[in-house]
Amino acid sequence: MSFLKLENAVKKYGDGESAVYALNGVSIDIEPEEIVVILGSSGSGKSTLLNILGGIDVMSEGRFTFMDKEISGKKSRDLLLYRRENIGFVFQFYNLIADLTVRENIKVVAEYCSSPLNIDEVMKTLGIDSLADRFPSQLSGGQQQRVAIARAVIKNPKLLLCDELTGALDSKSSGDVLRFVEKINHEYNTTIIIITHNNEIARMGDRIIRIHDGKIVSNEKNQEKVSADKLEL
Ligand SMILES: Nc1ncnc2c1ncn2[C@@H]1O[C@H](COP(=O)(O)OP(=O)(O)O)[C@@H](O)[C@H]1O
Ligand SMILES: [Mg+2]
Repeated sequence: MSFLKLENAVKKYGDGESAVYALNGVSIDIEPEEIVVILGSSGSGKSTLLNILGGIDVMSEGRFTFMDKEISGKKSRDLLLYRRENIGFVFQFYNLIADLTVRENIKVVAEYCSSPLNIDEVMKTLGIDSLADRFPSQLSGGQQQRVAIARAVIKNPKLLLCDELTGALDSKSSGDVLRFVEKINHEYNTTIIIITHNNEIARMGDRIIRIHDGKIVSNEKNQEKVSADKLEL
């Protein structure tokens, strides 16, 4: 079985002379339970790629299968189901609901899932159990991002997609957040894709993929993987 396979993905904006290729023939294969880091500078196509994998954007051309099922060509209703069933998203900004507590923020997501994980257990895994009754405004950036991760993983997604998740954090909070991402991978066997422009973060990946101008320039197993607490952020 193939877990995730993208073949010749093209994403084109506009036409003719003014056409921009955000992705220009990207193929990748991702193994289950890996931590994959996709590295590239700003404008290289990282977010476009992640959004396609997460079913919140569609390709102009190419083929995409997830657990051997074809996702490319699906209509928005079916993409929504794909996303709901399989995908957790974490962004640079935390997207928490300001007037709900930490526990309530997680609970509202759990309520529309068919088989959510236990809320207390997830809060404990992410080290936010003591913050359950606080509101987002009463948390640091790193704590808010851990709540955002809890919201993404409560449905026990097969794939967790992280778009510059430490982009707004200081180095200590970045390290904390990445340690917890690694813990999610270990505890729940979640496959994780992190996109970043930060080379140091790549060291914690099982696989490192480099993207430039909408093309993959390298894709290698990381022979020198280190745990997140060894990163010098
Ligand atoms: N809606 C859009 N219309 C036109 N160009 C876009 C649009 N979205 C992204 N792009 C272009 O596609 C390229 C890749 O963007 P993006 O995937 O956001 O890169 P990254 O996340 O690596 O910074 C950039 O050149 C960007 O300007
Ligand atoms: Mg981006």
